[in-house]
Amino acid sequence: MTLIDVHLTPDYAARALRDDVRAGLSATPKWLPPKWFYDARGSELFEEITRLPEYYPTRAEREILQTRAGEIAAITGAHTLVELGSGSSEKTRLLLDGLRDHGTLTSFVPLDVSESALREAADAINADYPQLDVHGVVGDFTAHLDKLPGDPPRMVAFLGGTIGNLIPAERATFYTSIRDVLDPGEWLLLGTDLVKDPATLIAAYDDAAGVTAEFNKNVLRVINRQLGADFDVDAFDHVAIWDPENEWIEMHLRATRAMRVLIPEIHLEASFAAGEEISTEISAKFRRAGVESELAEAGFTPAAWWTDTESRFALSLWKAA
Ligand code: SAH
Ligand code: AVI
Repeated sequence: MTLIDVHLTPDYAARALRDDVRAGLSATPKWLPPKWFYDARGSELFEEITRLPEYYPTRAEREILQTRAGEIAAITGAHTLVELGSGSSEKTRLLLDGLRDHGTLTSFVPLDVSESALREAADAINADYPQLDVHGVVGDFTAHLDKLPGDPPRMVAFLGGTIGNLIPAERATFYTSIRDVLDPGEWLLLGTDLVKDPATLIAAYDDAAGVTAEFNKNVLRVINRQLGADFDVDAFDHVAIWDPENEWIEMHLRATRAMRVLIPEIHLEASFAAGEEISTEISAKFRRAGVESELAEAGFTPAAWWTDTESRFALSLWKAA
């Protein structure tokens, strides 16, 4: 049976969206947090992105999981696998298989802000792993970590490079809050995309088929539907740039003409000049030394660092000290 806890209730989510949109679209420059990409359509678009020829991170991380899942199971002996920002949990099956074959796994706790993606993934895993206790959580990993179920020792997996979508201050708080919910000796498995040549990076975030552009614009569709706004979605261009100083990709939506957008639910009228941009996501790319110092700062000791054969992506294992 699949059990789902809903910590991100429709009321809570609606209030959080209103607060974020009010703050972000009243600011200069304008911004929106990336978690609002992921309604049902946004989650499907992300899955489509993972299959694009330009978007290497999913394939690179899957390659590492394919080679290392057995080792991860042997090192951790985890009884519970918690997955934050779990999405479809497709790659996670490699970890579930490794832990099941090792004989220690009893429960799987996927957590995601996208209720549709979470329910679909939890049902599919439940059907394919009948011995496993699947306990899903609809929640925000920046707010609901203290409510995680599961028997120790637990391994918290944060895959896909989603850590790169947090700004550095959020990232530090996030690592500390994971460390706070773990007991000493429990585990964090972290997927980080690595710094590489800008052309490869930009292509991954500005694909030829335009799927990432649709994903980016989806946040405007979410605001139109949820807050009654009248964004003309086609009047915005998708922009992806590499910031070499911060070593992150930035996604923006650029207004192609001057316009006013009404957002009745929050009594806001947002004015755009032609060419004005909304910052919608950063996707930070990492180096080993930086990851090691941030995790040490949060109270983790390193257990392993693996990359794919082309050194594009790293999966690292950390023990709560
Ligand atoms: N881990 C999967 C999916 C990555 S996409 C993979 O590696 O392919 C990022 C996922 O994180 C999405 O499913 C999205 O809904 C979820 N997400 C984004 N921000 C979140 C937040 N603040 N709290 C919980 N989930 C979040
Ligand atoms: C979920 N996250 C790791 C993706 C990334 O690569 O930063 C989101 C994404 N944005 C554009 N393409 C994919």
